Amino acid sequence: MIPSILPTYNRAPLSFERGEGAWLVEADGRRFLDLGAGIAVNALGHAHPALIAALEAQAGKLWHVSNLYRIPEQQRLADQLVGATFADTVFFTNSGTESCELAVKMARKYWYDKGQTERTEIITFSGSFHGRSSAGIAAAGSEKMIKGFAPILGGFTHIDWGDHEALKAAVTDRTAAILIEPVQGEGGIRPLPDQCLKGLRALCDEHGILLILDEVQCGVGRTGRLFAHEWAGITPDIMMVAKGIGGGFPLGAVLATEEAASGMTAGTHGSTYGGNPLGCAVGCAVMDHVADPAFLAEVNRKAGLLRQKLEGLVAAHPDVFEEVRGLGLMLGLKCKPAPAEVVNAGYAAEVVTVPAADNVVRLLPPLTISDEEIAEAVTRLDAAATALTHEMA
Ligand SMILES: Cc1ncc(COP(=O)(O)O)c(C=O)c1O
Repeated sequence: MIPSILPTYNRAPLSFERGEGAWLVEADGRRFLDLGAGIAVNALGHAHPALIAALEAQAGKLWHVSNLYRIPEQQRLADQLVGATFADTVFFTNSGTESCELAVKMARKYWYDKGQTERTEIITFSGSFHGRSSAGIAAAGSEKMIKGFAPILGGFTHIDWGDHEALKAAVTDRTAAILIEPVQGEGGIRPLPDQCLKGLRALCDEHGILLILDEVQCGVGRTGRLFAHEWAGITPDIMMVAKGIGGGFPLGAVLATEEAASGMTAGTHGSTYGGNPLGCAVGCAVMDHVADPAFLAEVNRKAGLLRQKLEGLVAAHPDVFEEVRGLGLMLGLKCKPAPAEVVNAGYAAEVVTVPAADNVVRLLPPLTISDEEIAEAVTRLDAAATALTHEMA
């Protein structure tokens, strides 16, 4: 019999009841160190007092009114994002996949309005992930995600990640945009080297193509900058955001320059819940913390500490781990056994991690994790790896 929850997830036999900062408390009382943060969502950890206060204050005032009206919290968050980034304008969504939908529509509408109606192709890369909507799976193009869901939305050209020659050859006068994650998340924590991101920007400028960055997973302070592309010193034309911006409240956004957004006039797009007062009140509180240079400096310092300890872990367990990679507090451990085995061994040691493609286990702790918690997390990962080595022997 089909379960009452559609069985699209293989769920771990864990049921968390409560969260406190970087800790998750299981219904049976066990305390897990959370190196997953709901897959890079709980940027400020669980039950952060500022987020609770923002949500409670808004909950007592107004939950929802519709985008037919002006929403002051939405305006405030848009102003914060515009003030802190390349963007001139923001549309709020409820998730990363919705941000992908709008980014694709925006790029195509831009060229349509310029009279270049043939210019609809979007170049994307192997190993990428842009969500589970029809546009999201078409953009990623992986067999695993699209199989059985035909007809697949057209207009995407897929290039092998890192194949510069194939990329150059794929650019034609039908190319509308290039869409890429500055750090691949689901694909296995693969940071795009700064040089490549600079090269992509130059290629887009040369051909007048729009550059769309998917910062759904790597944005909002995760890499030690407010947005990951800042490391390369370039700016996109359109950027997808979600996850961390809501700190656990479902919230996403598309940020764009005035030029790239020029086709999106009244009536061309909408969302019932996007930019709702509750989500935006929480988003403002997230931004108050994450956009603070002192907060980002701490993220970088803690990222260095975690990375150094993980290098030691990899060296101590050559049968389990191959390497550490990533940027900031978006780190991956490339594993020798299947990542699910490492994640399960972590559960037994009461530390939560997240599997990814390319045999990688992701470490995406709350950005607020303390030095002591980092040390404890690595002690627990060490115990997990030791247990796994014994099991494999
Ligand atoms: C890079 C990236 N883009 C898009 C998405 C889709 O976001 P959502 O699950 O909120 O729809 C994800 C989710 O993991 C992601 O990592």
